[in-house]
Amino acid sequence: MSVPLLALAGLVRRYQADRPAVIDGLDFTLAAGEWIAIMGESGVGKSTLLNVIAGLDRADAGAVRVDGVELAALDDDALTLLRRQSMGFVFQAFHVLPYLSVGRNVALPLALNGVPEREIRPRVAAMLVDVGLEGMFERLPRELSGGELQRVAIARALVHRPRLVLADEPTGNLDPKSAAQVLALLGRAVRAHGGGGLLITHSRAAAASADRAYEFDGRTLVPLTVP
Ligand SMILES: Nc1ncnc2c1ncn2[C@@H]1O[C@H](COP(=O)(O)OP(=O)(O)O)[C@@H](O)[C@H]1O
Ligand SMILES: [Mg+2]
Repeated sequence: MSVPLLALAGLVRRYQADRPAVIDGLDFTLAAGEWIAIMGESGVGKSTLLNVIAGLDRADAGAVRVDGVELAALDDDALTLLRRQSMGFVFQAFHVLPYLSVGRNVALPLALNGVPEREIRPRVAAMLVDVGLEGMFERLPRELSGGELQRVAIARALVHRPRLVLADEPTGNLDPKSAAQVLALLGRAVRAHGGGGLLITHSRAAAASADRAYEFDGRTLVPLTVP
Protein backbone atom coordinates (compact mmCIF):
# COMPACT_ATOMS: atom_id res chain seq x y z
CA MET A 1 0.00 0.00 0.00
CA SER A 2 1.39 3.39 -0.89
CA VAL A 3 1.41 6.21 1.66
CA PRO A 4 -1.66 8.45 1.28
CA LEU A 5 -1.12 12.07 0.35
CA LEU A 6 -3.13 13.07 3.41
CA ALA A 7 -4.13 10.94 6.39
CA LEU A 8 -6.21 12.12 9.35
CA ALA A 9 -6.43 9.78 12.34
CA GLY A 10 -8.69 10.46 15.30
CA LEU A 11 -8.39 14.19 14.71
CA VAL A 12 -9.80 16.44 17.45
CA ARG A 13 -9.95 20.25 17.62
CA ARG A 14 -11.69 21.86 20.55
CA TYR A 15 -11.57 25.64 20.95
CA GLN A 16 -13.00 25.76 24.46
CA ALA A 17 -12.86 23.08 27.16
CA ASP A 18 -16.53 23.54 28.11
CA ARG A 19 -17.81 23.39 24.51
CA PRO A 20 -18.19 20.37 22.23
CA ALA A 21 -15.19 19.69 20.00
CA VAL A 22 -15.51 21.23 16.52
CA ILE A 23 -13.64 18.28 15.00
CA ASP A 24 -14.33 15.20 17.05
CA GLY A 25 -12.33 12.12 16.12
CA LEU A 26 -12.16 12.43 12.35
CA ASP A 27 -10.50 9.68 10.29
CA PHE A 28 -9.88 10.29 6.60
CA THR A 29 -7.41 9.56 3.85
CA LEU A 30 -6.81 11.26 0.53
CA ALA A 31 -4.77 9.50 -2.13
CA ALA A 32 -2.49 11.37 -4.51
CA GLY A 33 -4.42 12.39 -7.61
CA GLU A 34 -7.72 12.84 -5.77
CA TRP A 35 -9.58 16.14 -5.87
CA ILE A 36 -12.48 16.01 -3.47
CA ALA A 37 -15.20 18.39 -2.33
CA ILE A 38 -16.34 18.91 1.25
CA MET A 39 -19.72 20.45 1.96
CA GLY A 40 -21.40 21.19 5.27
CA GLU A 41 -23.44 23.73 7.18
CA SER A 42 -21.87 27.03 8.06
CA GLY A 43 -20.04 26.81 11.39
CA VAL A 44 -19.64 23.03 11.28
CA GLY A 45 -15.83 23.31 11.24
CA LYS A 46 -14.74 23.15 7.58
CA SER A 47 -12.31 26.07 7.80
CA THR A 48 -11.00 24.73 11.10
CA LEU A 49 -10.35 21.41 9.39
CA LEU A 50 -8.40 23.06 6.58
CA ASN A 51 -6.38 25.16 9.03
CA VAL A 52 -5.46 22.11 11.09
CA ILE A 53 -4.44 20.19 7.96
CA ALA A 54 -2.30 23.15 6.91
CA GLY A 55 -0.66 23.30 10.32
CA LEU A 56 -1.94 26.87 10.74
CA ASP A 57 -3.93 25.64 13.73
CA ARG A 58 -2.98 22.74 16.01
CA ALA A 59 -4.91 19.55 16.63
CA ASP A 60 -5.79 18.81 20.25
CA ALA A 61 -5.58 15.06 19.64
CA GLY A 62 -5.02 12.68 16.77
CA ALA A 63 -2.71 13.00 13.80
CA VAL A 64 -2.41 14.81 10.48
CA ARG A 65 0.06 13.15 8.09
CA VAL A 66 1.07 14.66 4.76
CA ASP A 67 2.93 12.14 2.60
CA GLY A 68 3.47 10.13 5.76
CA VAL A 69 4.98 13.03 7.72
CA GLU A 70 3.16 13.75 10.97
CA LEU A 71 2.72 17.50 11.45
CA ALA A 72 2.94 17.29 15.25
CA ALA A 73 6.46 15.89 14.93
CA LEU A 74 7.69 19.00 13.12
CA ASP A 75 9.02 22.16 14.78
CA ASP A 76 7.78 25.55 13.56
CA ASP A 77 10.52 25.94 10.95
CA ALA A 78 9.99 22.46 9.51
CA LEU A 79 6.25 23.02 9.44
CA THR A 80 6.66 26.34 7.63
CA LEU A 81 8.95 24.66 5.11
CA LEU A 82 6.52 21.79 4.51
CA ARG A 83 3.66 24.24 4.04
CA ARG A 84 5.68 26.45 1.71
CA GLN A 85 6.93 23.58 -0.45
CA SER A 86 4.09 21.08 -0.41
CA MET A 87 0.89 23.05 0.04
CA GLY A 88 -1.10 25.61 -1.91
CA PHE A 89 -4.05 27.59 -0.57
CA VAL A 90 -6.96 29.36 -2.19
CA PHE A 91 -9.26 31.41 0.03
CA GLN A 92 -12.73 32.81 -0.57
CA ALA A 93 -11.44 36.38 -0.14
CA PHE A 94 -8.57 35.87 -2.65
CA HIS A 95 -5.90 37.43 -0.36
CA VAL A 96 -4.08 38.89 -3.36
CA LEU A 97 -1.65 41.57 -2.16
CA PRO A 98 -2.94 44.90 -3.52
CA TYR A 99 0.40 46.70 -3.88
CA LEU A 100 2.14 43.92 -5.82
CA SER A 101 1.62 43.31 -9.53
CA VAL A 102 -0.25 40.19 -10.64
CA GLY A 103 3.06 38.59 -11.60
CA ARG A 104 4.75 39.39 -8.28
CA ASN A 105 1.75 37.98 -6.40
CA VAL A 106 1.99 34.71 -8.33
CA ALA A 107 5.79 34.69 -7.91
CA LEU A 108 5.62 34.77 -4.10
CA PRO A 109 5.79 31.01 -3.42
CA LEU A 110 8.69 30.62 -5.84
CA ALA A 111 10.59 33.50 -4.24
CA LEU A 112 9.93 32.07 -0.76
CA ASN A 113 11.21 28.69 -1.94
CA GLY A 114 14.45 30.24 -3.18
CA VAL A 115 13.81 29.69 -6.90
CA PRO A 116 16.32 31.86 -8.82
CA GLU A 117 14.88 35.09 -10.21
CA ARG A 118 15.69 34.15 -13.84
CA GLU A 119 13.50 31.03 -13.48
CA ILE A 120 10.69 32.82 -11.71
CA ARG A 121 9.60 35.05 -14.55
CA PRO A 122 9.09 32.31 -17.20
CA ARG A 123 7.36 30.03 -14.69
CA VAL A 124 4.99 32.79 -13.62
CA ALA A 125 4.32 33.76 -17.23
CA ALA A 126 3.48 30.12 -18.08
CA MET A 127 1.24 29.84 -15.02
CA LEU A 128 -0.61 33.02 -16.04
CA VAL A 129 -1.25 31.46 -19.45
CA ASP A 130 -2.64 28.33 -17.73
CA VAL A 131 -5.16 30.40 -15.77
CA GLY A 132 -6.16 32.58 -18.71
CA LEU A 133 -4.32 35.72 -17.58
CA GLU A 134 -1.74 35.80 -20.33
CA GLY A 135 0.14 39.09 -20.54
CA MET A 136 -1.20 40.41 -17.21
CA PHE A 137 2.12 40.13 -15.32
CA GLU A 138 2.47 43.90 -14.74
CA ARG A 139 -1.19 44.63 -13.96
CA LEU A 140 -2.20 45.69 -10.49
CA PRO A 141 -4.90 43.73 -8.64
CA ARG A 142 -7.24 46.77 -8.55
CA GLU A 143 -7.41 46.59 -12.35
CA LEU A 144 -8.88 43.07 -12.26
CA SER A 145 -12.39 41.63 -11.90
CA GLY A 146 -13.32 39.26 -9.06
CA GLY A 147 -13.01 36.22 -11.31
CA GLU A 148 -9.60 37.38 -12.51
CA LEU A 149 -8.42 38.02 -8.94
CA GLN A 150 -9.41 34.51 -7.94
CA ARG A 151 -7.47 33.18 -10.93
CA VAL A 152 -4.42 35.10 -9.66
CA ALA A 153 -4.92 33.41 -6.29
CA ILE A 154 -5.17 30.01 -7.99
CA ALA A 155 -2.03 30.66 -10.02
CA ARG A 156 -0.23 31.58 -6.80
CA ALA A 157 -1.51 28.43 -5.08
CA LEU A 158 -0.26 26.19 -7.89
CA VAL A 159 2.89 27.83 -9.27
CA HIS A 160 5.25 25.88 -7.00
CA ARG A 161 3.49 22.61 -7.89
CA PRO A 162 2.35 21.78 -4.37
CA ARG A 163 1.42 18.19 -3.51
CA LEU A 164 -1.67 19.27 -1.59
CA VAL A 165 -4.05 22.05 -2.62
CA LEU A 166 -6.48 23.38 0.00
CA ALA A 167 -9.29 25.60 -1.25
CA ASP A 168 -11.73 27.19 1.22
CA GLU A 169 -14.87 28.32 -0.60
CA PRO A 170 -12.86 29.68 -3.53
CA THR A 171 -15.95 30.56 -5.53
CA GLY A 172 -17.95 32.11 -2.68
CA ASN A 173 -17.40 35.65 -3.97
CA LEU A 174 -17.84 34.95 -7.67
CA ASP A 175 -20.74 35.08 -10.09
CA PRO A 176 -21.86 31.66 -11.43
CA LYS A 177 -20.00 31.99 -14.73
CA SER A 178 -16.69 33.00 -13.11
CA ALA A 179 -17.20 30.31 -10.47
CA ALA A 180 -17.58 27.61 -13.12
CA GLN A 181 -14.42 28.80 -14.90
CA VAL A 182 -12.42 28.94 -11.68
CA LEU A 183 -13.53 25.44 -10.65
CA ALA A 184 -12.76 23.89 -14.01
CA LEU A 185 -9.34 25.48 -13.88
CA LEU A 186 -8.63 24.42 -10.32
CA GLY A 187 -9.65 20.79 -10.85
CA ARG A 188 -7.67 20.55 -14.08
CA ALA A 189 -4.56 22.10 -12.56
CA VAL A 190 -4.62 20.00 -9.38
CA ARG A 191 -4.91 16.81 -11.41
CA ALA A 192 -2.28 17.90 -13.94
CA HIS A 193 0.26 18.50 -11.20
CA GLY A 194 -0.18 14.96 -9.86
CA GLY A 195 -1.03 16.08 -6.35
CA GLY A 196 -4.42 16.20 -4.76
CA GLY A 197 -6.66 18.52 -2.89
CA LEU A 198 -9.66 19.45 -0.83
CA LEU A 199 -12.30 21.86 -2.07
CA ILE A 200 -14.59 23.32 0.56
CA THR A 201 -17.74 24.63 -0.97
CA HIS A 202 -21.39 25.50 -0.40
CA SER A 203 -22.20 24.96 -4.04
CA ARG A 204 -23.54 21.64 -5.32
CA ALA A 205 -22.32 22.55 -8.80
CA ALA A 206 -18.84 23.07 -7.38
CA ALA A 207 -18.99 19.79 -5.48
CA ALA A 208 -20.05 18.00 -8.65
CA SER A 209 -16.87 19.24 -10.37
CA ALA A 210 -14.69 17.24 -7.96
CA ASP A 211 -13.91 13.51 -8.13
CA ARG A 212 -15.96 12.80 -5.00
CA ALA A 213 -17.98 14.82 -2.54
CA TYR A 214 -18.46 14.54 1.21
CA GLU A 215 -20.51 16.21 3.88
CA PHE A 216 -18.64 17.09 7.07
CA ASP A 217 -20.55 16.68 10.32
CA GLY A 218 -17.69 17.18 12.80
CA ARG A 219 -16.91 13.53 13.31
CA THR A 220 -17.11 11.98 9.88
CA LEU A 221 -16.95 12.86 6.22
CA VAL A 222 -20.09 11.26 4.85
CA PRO A 223 -20.04 10.43 1.12
CA LEU A 224 -22.51 12.59 -0.80
CA THR A 225 -24.10 11.93 -4.13
CA VAL A 226 -24.19 15.12 -6.17
CA PRO A 227 -25.83 15.17 -9.59
N1 LIG B 1 -10.30 30.78 16.59
C1 LIG B 1 -11.47 30.34 17.08
N2 LIG B 1 -11.72 30.39 18.41
C2 LIG B 1 -12.89 29.92 18.92
N3 LIG B 1 -13.86 29.39 18.17
C3 LIG B 1 -13.68 29.32 16.85
C4 LIG B 1 -12.47 29.78 16.22
N4 LIG B 1 -12.56 29.57 14.88
C5 LIG B 1 -13.76 29.01 14.68
N5 LIG B 1 -14.43 28.85 15.85
C6 LIG B 1 -15.78 28.23 16.00
O1 LIG B 1 -15.67 26.91 15.54
C7 LIG B 1 -16.83 26.53 14.80
C8 LIG B 1 -16.42 26.13 13.38
O2 LIG B 1 -15.97 27.27 12.65
P1 LIG B 1 -15.43 27.18 11.16
O3 LIG B 1 -14.37 26.14 11.11
O4 LIG B 1 -15.06 28.54 10.72
O5 LIG B 1 -16.72 26.64 10.39
P2 LIG B 1 -17.09 26.62 8.82
O6 LIG B 1 -15.85 26.92 8.05
O7 LIG B 1 -17.62 25.25 8.58
O8 LIG B 1 -18.16 27.65 8.63
C9 LIG B 1 -17.75 27.73 14.85
O9 LIG B 1 -18.65 27.53 15.91
C10 LIG B 1 -16.82 28.89 15.15
O10 LIG B 1 -17.49 29.91 15.84
MG1 LIG C 1 -15.42 28.41 6.68
